[in-house]
Amino acid sequence: MGESMTGLKRSHMCGDITESLAGKKVTVMGWVQRRRDLGQLIFIALRDRTGIVQAVVDGSAEEELFKKAETIRSEFVVSITGTVSLRTAENVNESMKTGKVEVIAEDLRILSESETTPFQVEDNINVNDELRLKYRYIDLRRPSIFKNIKLRHDVTHVVRDFLDNEGFLEIETPMLTRSTPEGARDYLVPSRVHPGNFYALPQSPQLFKQLLMVSGMDKYFQIARCFRDEDLRADRQPEFTQIDMELSFIDIDDILDVNERLIKRVFKEVLGVDVKTPFRRMTWKEGMERFGSDKPDMRFGMELKNLTYIVKDTEFAVFKNAVEAGGSVRAINAEGCGKMPRKQIDQLVEFVKTYKAKGLAWIAVNDDGTLKSQIAKFFTDEKMAEIVSAMGAKPGDLILICADRNKVVFDALGALRLEMARRLELTRPDDYNFLWITEFPMFDWSEEENRFVAEHHPFTAPMDEDIALLDTDPSKVRAKAYDMVLNGVELGGGSIRIHRPDIQKKIFELLGMSDEVAYNKFGFLLNAFKYGVPPHGGLAFGLDRMVMLMAGATTIRDVIAFPKVKDASCLLTDAPNTVDEAQLDELDIAVKENNDN
Ligand code: AMO
Ligand code: AMP
Repeated sequence: MGESMTGLKRSHMCGDITESLAGKKVTVMGWVQRRRDLGQLIFIALRDRTGIVQAVVDGSAEEELFKKAETIRSEFVVSITGTVSLRTAENVNESMKTGKVEVIAEDLRILSESETTPFQVEDNINVNDELRLKYRYIDLRRPSIFKNIKLRHDVTHVVRDFLDNEGFLEIETPMLTRSTPEGARDYLVPSRVHPGNFYALPQSPQLFKQLLMVSGMDKYFQIARCFRDEDLRADRQPEFTQIDMELSFIDIDDILDVNERLIKRVFKEVLGVDVKTPFRRMTWKEGMERFGSDKPDMRFGMELKNLTYIVKDTEFAVFKNAVEAGGSVRAINAEGCGKMPRKQIDQLVEFVKTYKAKGLAWIAVNDDGTLKSQIAKFFTDEKMAEIVSAMGAKPGDLILICADRNKVVFDALGALRLEMARRLELTRPDDYNFLWITEFPMFDWSEEENRFVAEHHPFTAPMDEDIALLDTDPSKVRAKAYDMVLNGVELGGGSIRIHRPDIQKKIFELLGMSDEVAYNKFGFLLNAFKYGVPPHGGLAFGLDRMVMLMAGATTIRDVIAFPKVKDASCLLTDAPNTVDEAQLDELDIAVKENNDN
């Protein structure tokens, strides 16, 4: 049952009913937050996306109106027409924008009814995520989630405006396309017209945006949906959105500059926050050595220190073996943690083991300056003092040491550093600390595949001064690639692209791709490059991550209207799902009998 809108017109949004409208007649529409009956008075808190306003049906109202008001339940959709009246002083609610007024109802229409909702439409309620996502349309009514969705709109609006002003053209690229080279698994779409053939949904618009540069578009951008079939985490979804751009006739500095200004504008206009530019720049190597990470959270110190040179001659097998195998011994100083109970230290040992470390040594500095450590027996007092001094440790501090291959040491201590900061509450989400990580390695050695893989993607240019190393020591080649990092999250990344065919050929070779394979995969791009290609480069931000950090959310799910859960399914629509036999027949597809489902 529901009354119609005939002859009705909304005059105001609920959140806009304030003192200045006192004495005026208004019509508001929305969802009933709650109804309270006080005998001859019925209060209705009416909510729309702008806020809540209180309406009153009093005993002097027509009987029919009063009776109707009595039938109203939470989440009914109603229209209320009435006169705005100032509340008496004792009834003023200072915590509400509309708290000084109420609407004395003269007309009421029930536009639709509602069953009891699975959870209340209120912030700070204790509902499990599954229920929230199954009923996402109700969840989205909650003010905190609405705020995130609105914030996202504001961000894209400012981004479009900024890039338009800078001369970028917004151009759409295909969703049904060929596999793109971002290194994750593809989502495939079967072709009906070409049985046995598949489109891939784009992992990014990378190849098309490079083609657009060949076409002379000069500056391109797109708020682009990307698809990657990879394991989900708090900051990863199978479909997500990039603010994607590419520019011609530029070098690294031009790209970093325009993106710093973009970020500055977005933060100023959307949050009113002044972001200082230029951002700090740090090479990948420095990021690893000082923070054990290529996306260091710079809001706090606790830097890694290299102790290899101090302990290299030790007889302690764990350290000795690591150093002899070409690894290192490094440590962090957890200030003020010297009294940490043994049980908790053991938890830290277990923690680093999840990062493949074999163990964790520790030295606690007692209040009187003496040391407590399970490795003291392997070192002279002088050596121990040297370690403490190298770490800058004071009484009350705890030194945590890891010895292993460099990669493991960096991973383990980098993660431990973040874990300790979390426990010690060293960071604030509204302290925005930006930096650029530059000079990424060109290649990463894949143990599984026993070959080099591109650290960024195969079209990334090597640094000019490292080109000769492509022939002699490819593992040392640095790329013209950069990431923007905010508070330990990779916000965006990009690179200058290769525009010289000879270098591109060499890179494909190093990646173990024959000419034939390269042409088969990327022939259309390589062909295009035969017809005049401008030097070009670009970058893509993860829009979801950007909005997550701006909203102070801990997962990108909270800033996506209809997100997926960990196993990549949508609890609302029950996707993915089976399809009719007839649909499969049309696509010439048979599903194997023995699949797990
Ligand atoms: P990249 O693969 O680094 O670069 O992606 C750019 C940014 O996209 C975001 N991102 C994600 N966000 C949510 N869920 C995911 N699964 C996900 N994967 C990536 C990150 C990341 O920094 N074509 C290149 C860009 C370029 O070279 O211009 C690219 O896609 O914030
Ligand atoms: P073990 O010789 O294995 O008994 O180790 C002696 C101490 O060194 C233990 O407290 C271990 O936690 C610690 N330890 C073991 N492996 C490592 C490692 N790779 N780095 C740092 N400390 C370690």
